[in-house]
Amino acid sequence: MQYRTLGNSGLLVSPICLGTMTFGEPVPESAAIELVHGALDLGINFIDTANVYEGYQRVLGSAGGVAEEITGKALRDRRDGVVLATKVGAPVGPGPQDRGLSKTHILHQLERSLRLLQTDYIDLYIIHWPDKHTPLETTLEAMDVAVRQGKVRYFGASNHDAGQLCELLWLADRSGGPRVVSSQIPYSLLRRELHYDLEFCARHAIGVTPYQSLQGGLLTGKYRRDAEPPADSRAAEKPQWVWDRDAALYDQLEVLEGLAREADIPMVQYTLAWTLAQPAMSSLVVGAKRLEQVAQAVGTLEVTIPADHFTRVDQTCPLPWKQADPIRSE
Ligand SMILES: NC(=O)c1ccc[n+]([C@@H]2O[C@H](COP(=O)([O-])OP(=O)(O)OC[C@H]3O[C@@H](n4cnc5c(N)ncnc54)[C@H](OP(=O)(O)O)[C@@H]3O)[C@@H](O)[C@H]2O)c1
Repeated sequence: MQYRTLGNSGLLVSPICLGTMTFGEPVPESAAIELVHGALDLGINFIDTANVYEGYQRVLGSAGGVAEEITGKALRDRRDGVVLATKVGAPVGPGPQDRGLSKTHILHQLERSLRLLQTDYIDLYIIHWPDKHTPLETTLEAMDVAVRQGKVRYFGASNHDAGQLCELLWLADRSGGPRVVSSQIPYSLLRRELHYDLEFCARHAIGVTPYQSLQGGLLTGKYRRDAEPPADSRAAEKPQWVWDRDAALYDQLEVLEGLAREADIPMVQYTLAWTLAQPAMSSLVVGAKRLEQVAQAVGTLEVTIPADHFTRVDQTCPLPWKQADPIRSE
C-alpha cells in the first residue's frame, strides 16, 4: 500500500478510506464486521464513520449510533494501526442541544462516540456540517479541550468551504488551538463545485478526503440508459440516496465510460484514479456493500489516467466558474 500523508498531521493513510454509512442496512452487522476485517487485510488503515450513521434507516434527527457501534465491534481486537475518524454536528434528536457545534453538544457526543466505538481516543474528530448558531471560535475551543484530554488526536472539517477552513486556521494561529488537518467535501467527476478549494487545501497542508467520489454508484458504469437499475443496487433499494438519472446525466456518463474504455480501465477505477490525481487528495472515502467492491477500489492504486484525459474530462465535467486573472493567466 502506498500511503499518503493526511495534511500536516504526520499520519499516513491508505488512499482508500472505508466509509461506513451503509452499516446496519443494507450491510447488516456481521457482514459489516467482515467488510472491515477484509478491508484491513487489503491494506486499508483508514475508517470513516459518524455519530449519526445508521444505514438506510437514517432520517433527519434520528439517534444514529448504529455504524459506530458496529465499527467498534469490528475494531475490538484490531484498533492499533487504524486511523479512526468520526463526526459530530448533525442532528441526533429533537432537542435544541441535540445538534450543532457547541461545546456542550461536541463534548457530550464525544463521550458517546468513544463508548460506542469501544476506544479511548478518536484519531480524527470531524465537524460534520457548518453550524450557523456557533462561532467557529467556540467549536475550536471544544476541540482544544478534547485534544488536551487525550480523547481526540486531530481535528478535521466536513462540508466547510475554503473560507471557513481559512477562518479555522487563522483562529488556531491566534489562540494556539488545534489546526484543522483535513477536509471532507463532496467531490467527484460529476460534482466539482468545490474544485478550487482543493488548491487552497494544497497550499495550507489540509488533506482532502472527499466523499461520494463514485457519486453513490453512478460512476461505476452499472446504471444504463432506458434500463431498470440492477436489483441489488442503491438506486433500486434506496432511490432517495442516488441522484435522479435524466438524459443529460446519461450523456455525461456515457462520455466518461467511453474514456475509461479507451484507457482500458474499469469505470470504477477510472473514476477513483481521476479523483486521486486531483490536488491535495489524501484519501477517498468510499462506500461499499461487498468486499469485492473494496478490492476494486484498492485496485485503483495500480492505475494511471492517461495525461491527455484530464482536459478531455474537463470538457465533459466542466470546472466551476472562476474570475479570470488578467495579470497571471497565460
Ligand atoms: N461528510 C459527509 O457529509 C458525508 C456524506 C456522505 C457520505 N460520507 C462518507 O462517504 C462514504 C461514501 O459515501 P457513499 O457510500 O454515499 O458514496 P460512494 O462511495 O460514492 O458510493 C458507494 C456505493 O456505490 C456502490 N459501489 C461501490 N463500489 C462499487 C463497485 N465496485 N461496483 C459497483 N457499485 C459499487 C455501492 O452501492 P450499491 O452496491 O448498493 O449500489 C456503494 O455502497 C460514506 O460511507 C461516508 O463514510 C460523508
